[in-house]
Order: sequence, then C-alpha cells, then structure tokens
Amino acid sequence: MSNVLRLALLDPTDSSREALKKMLLGMDIVWLEAECSRYEFFPDVLAQSSPDVGVINLDADPDKAISLLNRLRTDAPDCSLLVVSKSTDGQLILQAMRAGAREFLTSPVGLEDFMSALARISETKFGGASGKSRSTRIYAICGASGGVGCTSLAVNLGCMLASNPANTVALVDLDLAIGDADVFLDTIPDYSLIDVTQNVARLDFQLLKRSLTKHSSGLYLLPRPVQLQDLSLITPDSLRRVFGLLKATFTHIIIDLSKGYTDIDHAALEFANDVLVVVQLDLPCLRNLVRLQMSFDQFDGLTEKLKIVVNRVGLESGQIKMKKAKETIGRDVFFQIPNDYRTMVEVRNNGIPLLEQAPKAPITAAIKELASLLDNNPASTATAEDSTPAASGSGSWLSFWPKK
Ligand SMILES: Nc1ncnc2c1ncn2[C@@H]1O[C@H](COP(=O)(O)OP(=O)(O)OP(=O)(O)O)[C@@H](O)[C@H]1O
Ligand SMILES: [Mg+2]
Repeated sequence: MSNVLRLALLDPTDSSREALKKMLLGMDIVWLEAECSRYEFFPDVLAQSSPDVGVINLDADPDKAISLLNRLRTDAPDCSLLVVSKSTDGQLILQAMRAGAREFLTSPVGLEDFMSALARISETKFGGASGKSRSTRIYAICGASGGVGCTSLAVNLGCMLASNPANTVALVDLDLAIGDADVFLDTIPDYSLIDVTQNVARLDFQLLKRSLTKHSSGLYLLPRPVQLQDLSLITPDSLRRVFGLLKATFTHIIIDLSKGYTDIDHAALEFANDVLVVVQLDLPCLRNLVRLQMSFDQFDGLTEKLKIVVNRVGLESGQIKMKKAKETIGRDVFFQIPNDYRTMVEVRNNGIPLLEQAPKAPITAAIKELASLLDNNPASTATAEDSTPAASGSGSWLSFWPKK
C-alpha cells in the first residue's frame, strides 16, 4: 500500500483545530481522512474511517481526553495516537503516554516536530524503506505525436497491474477534451474528474473509490470531463489535491496525458515517478521527441524520469531504423512494443483489454513484461546513455532516411 498516512483529527476548539488542519493539508505524506470536534464522537469516527493515525488535542477537557485514549487502546488498536497539548505538565504527559499515546507534541505544534513524529509512526507502520510496504508508483504516459498508442498502453498496463490482487490501480484520463479511456474499457462512468476535483475536500477514501468507475479487471478509472465547458474548472492546484488523495488510496496510478503539454499535463509530469514517452519510429515523432527532450531539460528532475517506449515495432512502411533512432534521440530505448494492428483495433473497438481479448498474443506478453519491469525497477531509473540529443538543427533530420 501507499506510505501516505491517513489521519483523523480531533480538537473541540475551532481555532486550534483549524491551525492543525491547515498544517496537515500542506503535507503530501498525510491525507486528512476525517475531522471531529467532540471527544465522545471520536470512537465512531475512527470506526468509520479506520485512519492510520488519530491526532487528539487534550486541552478542551484533559480528563475526557485521557479516558478517550484509554478507550481507544482497545477500540482502535491499529490507530496510532498522537496527542497535542499546550501543557508541559509532566504528569499529563505521563498519563497520556500510559493511556496509549504514541507521541506527545506541545502546541503550537511546529511543522518539523510534527513531521518527525509522523516519520516515527510511519517507520513502525511501514517498516521504513526496507519494509514490506512501499510508496505508490505513479506512471505518466505521454506521446511525441497524436495516435502513437498512449491510451492503448495506459489502459492495458493498468489492467495488467490490477490483475495482481496485491495492487490497487487507478487510471486518470487527463486528455481532458477528447480522452477515450472510457471507450477502451467499455464503461459509461457516473462521475468524472470534474466531480472529484470539485469535491476533493469532502471526499474520503471510501467515497473516492465510489466516485471512480471500477472495471471488471479491477482497474479504477477516473475519466475526463463530459462537457468541454467544464475544462477550466480543473486547475493544476485542484488536480494536485486529487493526486494527493489518489496517492493515499492506490498502490499504482497511471495518468494518460493529453498531447497539449498544458499546465495540467505538467502537474502530472511533476507528480509521476516515471514518465513513459511513447513514440513510433517515424520522422515527425522522432523530431518531436528531440524537441520535447530539450524542453523537459528545463524542468527540474524531469529528464531523469523519462523512459522511451517505442510502439508498433515491426511496422514496415516509412520506419526509421532503431539504431539510427537511438543515435538521434541520444538515449536508450526503455521498451519496445510490437506492431499488431488487428488485435489492438479489436481491443479498442470491443472495449475489452488485451488480457481478456488476446491473452496469448505476443503484444500482451510484451505489455505484461513492461508492467513487471516498471513495477520491479526503482522509479526514475535513468536509462539515458547520454541525455543530450545527438541531432539538432534542421539539416540533420534528413539523415533519418535510409540511404538509397
Ligand atoms: N502496438 C500497436 N500495434 C498496432 N496498432 C496499435 C498499437 N498500439 C496502438 N495501436 C493503434 O493505434 C491507434 C491509436 O492508439 P491510441 O488511441 O492508444 O493512441 P493515443 O496516443 O492515445 O492517441 P491520441 O493522440 O488520440 O490520444 C489505435 O487504433 C490503436 O488500436
Ligand atoms: Mg489517447
């Protein structure tokens, strides 16, 4: 599962609760699952939301708060309790710790102290970097030209990852105007990215899963908006909050980007661990790829995340040789997917993923291999032999064509 900690906050005093909430909302390692202003309601809140951590302010009524801690020790043994108080009274600290508090922080709580306390809790819960759990893997899929196979890859990669019961996988269709991931999955979703971005502050773990469309493969789809008029409602900031919530919920997130490289797409490129750039071995595509790489160099850390995926390998007409293509793009190719137009068109038109439609086809095996390669490799593995494009300037493009 994800290493994001899901929190429930209890503080009967509005001002201190708001201050804590503000701090929590700014942290990307936590997700605020629920908040509560009454000590007596907190056991129910924990029963419904099952957070990893309960943050409890003792000050409104220390006696009530201590007896609550005692009760939660048996009612919610899996929830780590972090208490906050203005008091530095050793007696109160001792009582709180004996009642089951894992951490005691003096308010006003400093961000650094809070982060350290959460890191200690996370270490015990997830076993640190070497533990069984690991953080969410986020793959952004973009293309160097229209129709290169991004959605086909995003959908089928998603279904393959979702076929492992240990994974929970979400696919986000960021091709906001004309995305078609829903068609590939033959679904008519009830909700879209608009509903989720508009309600992100109110959504919790369960509600989020219900707002996404679950495909029979196990893949959850968050589709593009229905109306073009709504697109402006999605901003990079609102999207970052949705990503935060998804990260707290899923083990894998796949994002199918638009070909517009808008601010929205850039928010996804920033968020991803790996950026798969899908290309075909033709002149416009490779030319765009070199240009894209030069632009990506301007963004911190983006070049290191790039993985070039060549699609439709084996397509004869007008194809540039792989060796020549590698020389031109100046970095190695991470993965090659064979050409199989008949199967891929069937997959799209029938709305049935490769695993089901053509389980034995070589293209299915190839995407399966890509899924396991990505899943088992450390994120952002640089595969570049040299990240500087070898060819630049208009004259060099002619060199793509095989000599007659
Ligand atoms: N490996 C492949 N072999 C043959 N055909 C393929 C392959 N991958 C994808 N296709 C076909 O290419 C076409 C475009 O694929 P797809 O819609 O996935 O591309 P895209 O990059 O998402 O396009 P867009 O730019 O419209 O978003 C589809 O008809 C699909 O069936
Ligand atoms: Mg597409």
